[in-house]
Amino acid sequence: MKGILLVLAKRYIAGAERQDAIRTALALNDIGIKATIDNLGENVRTPAQAAWSVAEYLDLLKDIKASGADSQISLKLTHMGLDISPELAIENLETIVKKAREDGNFVRVDMEGSKYTQATIDIFLQLRKKYPNIGVALQSALKRSVDDARIITAAGGSIRIVKGAYKEPASIAFKDKREVYTSFEEIMKGLLLTATRPAIATHDERLLDVAKKFADENGVSKRSFDFEMLLGIKRSLQRGLAREGYSVRVYVPYGREWLQYTLRRLGERKENVWFVLKNIFD
Ligand code: FDA
Repeated sequence: MKGILLVLAKRYIAGAERQDAIRTALALNDIGIKATIDNLGENVRTPAQAAWSVAEYLDLLKDIKASGADSQISLKLTHMGLDISPELAIENLETIVKKAREDGNFVRVDMEGSKYTQATIDIFLQLRKKYPNIGVALQSALKRSVDDARIITAAGGSIRIVKGAYKEPASIAFKDKREVYTSFEEIMKGLLLTATRPAIATHDERLLDVAKKFADENGVSKRSFDFEMLLGIKRSLQRGLAREGYSVRVYVPYGREWLQYTLRRLGERKENVWFVLKNIFD
């Protein structure tokens, strides 16, 4: 079973090594698409594992700079030690954000399961006071996200809006796909009217069309926000948007901890196995 998953993972992941991610980012840059590179990993259990993650991200920033790749970085706070203590996660995140600022780079904090939502926002807001080069993701599936988006935007924070990849209880999350869609649309429109360089992260073509029309009608420039998509999903669409003049950024994951990420991608779509086979030639 792990063997089959590894085959599927190859579509979604740049490779096991940092240089695989850099190569993928440069190849995307060649066709007018930016990247955000993510070192796969989450829920580290010891300070030593968290320190290893920090060291890897610092090397990643160094390699991005040396290669000239147009790429930000994305990371998860449980990879920085959030399960050990919020203090450790802040300290580790700050080390990375500081280095990114020196390089003129930007750090996007992914949003994990709802157990971590408040801590992620608190840590983000704390560091955002000192560093402008940090952003966070919010999930439209969570009922609280409309309010969170207002709070973060008021603090000048840049938000990546996503639907949400984690299974959450009905008490806090929309279960109907139409509600997740409507919440995404509402948050997205609000973000497009702010000057905080939001990221609209979806492969949902109806939402992308709504975003394009709304931006156009409200005089929001095509280059003032990012359309973000995942590596290996809807490549033709990514290229098409870039050709239309939109700023497109692709999330490029790499590393040996590929299993959790791949399972989330597969969980997003029942027909995924067929989809992967069909789209190998996309
Ligand atoms: P939806 O799931 O409705 O998909 C629309 C269409 O896209 C599908 O019909 C299909 O054609 C295609 N598609 C979508 N997913 C696919 C897949 N896995 N394989 C093949 N085809 C697929 N989540 C989170 O909880 N925290 C986070 O920080 C992030 N970060 C993030 C960054 C970026 C750049 C993106 C694009 C997404 C995330 N996500 C995320 C994941 C997000 O929450 C969501 O699970 C996926 O983007 C799928 O939802 P869509 O909005 O694409 O819509």
